[in-house]
Amino acid sequence: MSTYYFQLGNTPQLSVLELEYLTKNKLEPVSNQLYSLKTEDEIDITALQRESGGLVKTYQWLANIETTSPSEIESRIVEYLANQTGKVIFSVTNLSYEKIEIDDLAAIKKQLTAQDVKSRYLDSGKRGLTAAVLSHQKVHELVIIKDQEQLILAKTVSIQDIDDWTKRDRHKPYADRKKGMLPPKVARMMVNIAKNLFESNKYPNIHDPFCGSGTILMEALMMGCSASGSDLDVNSVRGSEDNLGWLIDEYKLDKKIPPLYLLDAAQPLPTSTANKINAIVTEPFMGKPRPQERELKNIFKGLYRTYLGAFKNWTKILRPGGIVVIIFPLVETENQTYDLNKLIDKLSQLGYTTMSQPVTYSRPQAIVKRQLHFLRYKG
Ligand SMILES: C[S@@+](CC[C@H](N)C(=O)[O-])C[C@H]1O[C@@H](n2cnc3c(N)ncnc32)[C@H](O)[C@@H]1O
Repeated sequence: MSTYYFQLGNTPQLSVLELEYLTKNKLEPVSNQLYSLKTEDEIDITALQRESGGLVKTYQWLANIETTSPSEIESRIVEYLANQTGKVIFSVTNLSYEKIEIDDLAAIKKQLTAQDVKSRYLDSGKRGLTAAVLSHQKVHELVIIKDQEQLILAKTVSIQDIDDWTKRDRHKPYADRKKGMLPPKVARMMVNIAKNLFESNKYPNIHDPFCGSGTILMEALMMGCSASGSDLDVNSVRGSEDNLGWLIDEYKLDKKIPPLYLLDAAQPLPTSTANKINAIVTEPFMGKPRPQERELKNIFKGLYRTYLGAFKNWTKILRPGGIVVIIFPLVETENQTYDLNKLIDKLSQLGYTTMSQPVTYSRPQAIVKRQLHFLRYKG
């Protein structure tokens, strides 16, 4: 049996959903952004890390620690490091929220030297070593975790490739920051969840009818899916084309630029594309980012109409059993909550059923929060 601890990013609930689908296992909370997985199955952590948008780091259980005495903890650490080959580079980070004095890494080094083990230690700060340090040197990053009441010694076994995510976020040729762009990691989680809800050995054909700069389509291609997109803004359609061409070159993907159309989401797609779609993954228009309270009623009325028009149109293009992973806007003022929940009742009349509880997330300062919905179209 192996125990893994997953350090999650800024949208933990969404990350948990993604990881439960990817690992086909239930995760247990340890703290807000740390979840554990106890499993008898072999898990390819490197592949999981590469695939997931929400997983920041994985730690693997090494030993239980029975006291908070520094000398006991030091001896557990020495025991583990003394069994490693070659010169040992190590760091120790306390993630347990317990007051544990383990700053004396020099004492650990001394004990290793006494056992003829050459070593060097790195200062890992409060949050652990960065991806840059971990990927460029062979470091044993040890962490102390408190899982329920048990203190645990664990080691880092995978870390997110931040440079690669930043490349797709910041270095693609087209961006329209005024419209708001989805972080690629959230787009990746949406794609992975859609793939898993699709429940087939085949990858779904993903359509984004509000494609903007093409972030979701890029992650769909990265995950081996076929894709298509549309938007009513010509710059977005051209921009998505540039971004997808760049992605295919940059990552040497064996793919063509997906079909992209200049269309309102309520307008029909050409049948050559429409006939193939079995998942819609999308972040539609959310209204303006900083609305005044007095404008909200009308903004949400307009959004309700746009979303309903789009959902009606998708009944003509989604294949039976097709999946919709979609973001709805949500604004909570002191007096009232504005959302599109009444749309959900309407959607059941159109043949859509909810597949899992919605997940709400937002940046700390955002007025318009986001709520992710997961639906299946009966057809
Ligand atoms: C929030 S942005 C999507 C951003 C995209 N996820 C990205 O990361 O770049 C919403 C997009 O919907 C488009 N849009 C707004 N109303 C639309 C409609 N009725 N039909 C199709 N596209 C629409 C806008 O032009 C905009 O590009």
